Amino acid sequence: MGVTSAAERQKSRPDIKIYPDGNTLFAAAAERIAAELANALREKPTASLVLTGGNTPRPVYERLSTSLSERLDWTRIQFFWGDERCVPPDHRDSNFRMARETLLSKVSVPEAQIHRIPGELADPGRAALLYETEIFNFAKSDPVPRFDLVLLGMGADGHTASLFPEASWDEGRLVVASHILKLSAWRITMTPLLLNSARNVLFVTAGLEKAKALAGVLEGPPGTYPAQRIQPVGGTLTWMVDESAASLLTTAGIGQSAEHRGDR
Ligand code: 6PG
Repeated sequence: MGVTSAAERQKSRPDIKIYPDGNTLFAAAAERIAAELANALREKPTASLVLTGGNTPRPVYERLSTSLSERLDWTRIQFFWGDERCVPPDHRDSNFRMARETLLSKVSVPEAQIHRIPGELADPGRAALLYETEIFNFAKSDPVPRFDLVLLGMGADGHTASLFPEASWDEGRLVVASHILKLSAWRITMTPLLLNSARNVLFVTAGLEKAKALAGVLEGPPGTYPAQRIQPVGGTLTWMVDESAASLLTTAGIGQSAEHRGDR
């Protein structure tokens, strides 16, 4: 899962917010995303949002595209993906497809602002390189681009984006192709170097099956789970979780390792 850098060790404390159930969590996460993007748009002409895959964000994206859609000028938002499966964009496993169905097809975003990962390419390494180039072109002069908001989820094994426990990657790259042994599949993923340069990183995690990994990530020894590698340098880190996922967090641990402002 790579080597923790000196910058990552100077970590900012995560803000942990715990919600009674999934629905409350998803509604609050959508509100938070809308607020972060609106803040960024008050300061500059466009804002950048990195989307995550998995099932958890579905209801969040649906809320953004329905009840909250009027809150944002979507024509001023640039969309990226933190990771992608090696499938065509219309495949049922495609993270792009999920975001298109739940959000992008329902709000008015110029095509040129939708920066999807070309997961359909036969060579995953080339797909990673092309996406890295697209990000460099977008960021122009920044050596490591700073996205306004990065959304992430976490698997029960502590993976995030497609940074898996048993994998290693080139720490100097912004995007890599990673072969995931247990899935017998390649994934394209942003690296900690790029994710940690974000202005704001927001994890949204729900369910009892995530409880052990969540406790390990937030309260356990460092270097165990890939999600621990996400420590924005000069940015904020927020975990929005439901009570099931938070069930193994200790009160003492919350007090020591994180600011606990649960909106119960
Ligand atoms: C993906 C992801 C991945 C995801 C976690 C959690 O493409 O699958 O980006 O990191 O966020 O696996 O997924 P769930 O929300 O489905 O539990």
